[in-house]
Amino acid sequence: MNSFAYYNPTKLIFGKNEVEKLKEEIPQYGKKVLLVYGGGSIKRNGLYDQVTGLLKEINAEVHELAGVEPNPRISTVRKGVEICKNEGIEFILAVGGGSVIDCTKAVAAGAKYDGDAWDLVIKKAFAEEALPFGTVLTLAATGSEMNSGSVITNWETHEKYGWGSPAVFPKFSILDPQNTFTVPRDQTIYGMVDMMSHVFEQYFNNASNTPLQDRLCESTLKTVIETAPQLLENLESYEHRETILYSGTIALNGMLQMGYRGDWATHNIEHAVSAVYDIPHAGGLAILFPNWMRHNIDVNPARFAQMAVRVFEVDPAGRTEKEVGLEGIDKLSEFWSSLGAPSRLADYEINDENIDVMADKAMANGEFGNFTSLNHDDVKAILKASL
Ligand code: NZQ
Ligand code: ZN
Repeated sequence: MNSFAYYNPTKLIFGKNEVEKLKEEIPQYGKKVLLVYGGGSIKRNGLYDQVTGLLKEINAEVHELAGVEPNPRISTVRKGVEICKNEGIEFILAVGGGSVIDCTKAVAAGAKYDGDAWDLVIKKAFAEEALPFGTVLTLAATGSEMNSGSVITNWETHEKYGWGSPAVFPKFSILDPQNTFTVPRDQTIYGMVDMMSHVFEQYFNNASNTPLQDRLCESTLKTVIETAPQLLENLESYEHRETILYSGTIALNGMLQMGYRGDWATHNIEHAVSAVYDIPHAGGLAILFPNWMRHNIDVNPARFAQMAVRVFEVDPAGRTEKEVGLEGIDKLSEFWSSLGAPSRLADYEINDENIDVMADKAMANGEFGNFTSLNHDDVKAILKASL
């Protein structure tokens, strides 16, 4: 293992009807609340009425930032920052999926920063402080509810970057599986692909002696693999929603990543693809990840073989590690396809026209990836294999 320090101050409140806890949590931070939400799913499923009812009970003065886009945009962040500065907002409540939470993180930090919030995203400035905020999560996917990362898109310049700061851990996150019942089938699939991808990004690392970390990653993957088909049979199964919701948080709250540095190259390539084409984040990951794996299997075939045997139950008898590893990657592709995830960029009508543009965007900060470093040619090869 590498040396590490683990810090995660987010209070995780998990369970049926726990949204009521907003009445205990919010008053600790203030009365002037900015409520942030997306394109209307929370109005359609009743959560908006429930949350605003609770805010009324605690006599909060509520302002709203509505219409946060999937792949949240800096233009929306700027609107939120303006409301915070003009109205003296004391606390922000995000009700939604990863996009709403990521936007909220940028608004919270932007409200305490004198310049343009985009500076924080492009790391021209560091978010030293932020307004306190909490979340009510409605979609199991990103882990944003219990981490300090955020991904923001600038649609004018077609750039999408991740950024983060210890200042933007949510103060609390409320996770009630019931609030994910209305997540449509496609978003449910994307969410499960995303959380599995987060585990893969961490599993492919260069540290030695990480037996417990490996088993934690493998167990998380196996849990999602077992549960996914059952959940897709019944999208309103409390038990399966509960399992997947918890898995999504564990996959990216830092717990799996103690003692090593994850790879994160595939996420970087996906952000470049969705900066150009605005496709769903995990749709892109489902296409790219198996190709990242095939491209890099020779870096450490034993690692891929371990995943194949332990997670995808590939029989290793009489074969090389590379052969076993490749079968594991095929099984991953088959599994995601069986759920209904896309497998080719062509599924989003993306052809080779902008391969160089996407590779350039992925390379914006030079070579990247911690399991193995990718250059422009590597990125192009992975994108081409994904067409
Ligand atoms: O906008 P509304 O109307 O709420 O609808 C959303 C949106 O259309 C809908 N939805 C959410 N909860 C629902 C629901 N529909 C019905 N019932 C519900 N309960 O689902 C759609 C997608 O929502 P979004 O928040 O965009 O999805 P997700 O949670 O997958 O977030 C994706 C964003 O997170 C970033 C991605 O790049 C992307 O921008 N990521 C953030 C990370 C982080 N902060 O740690 C890590 C991830 O790897 C990822 O990059
Ligand atoms: Zn992701």
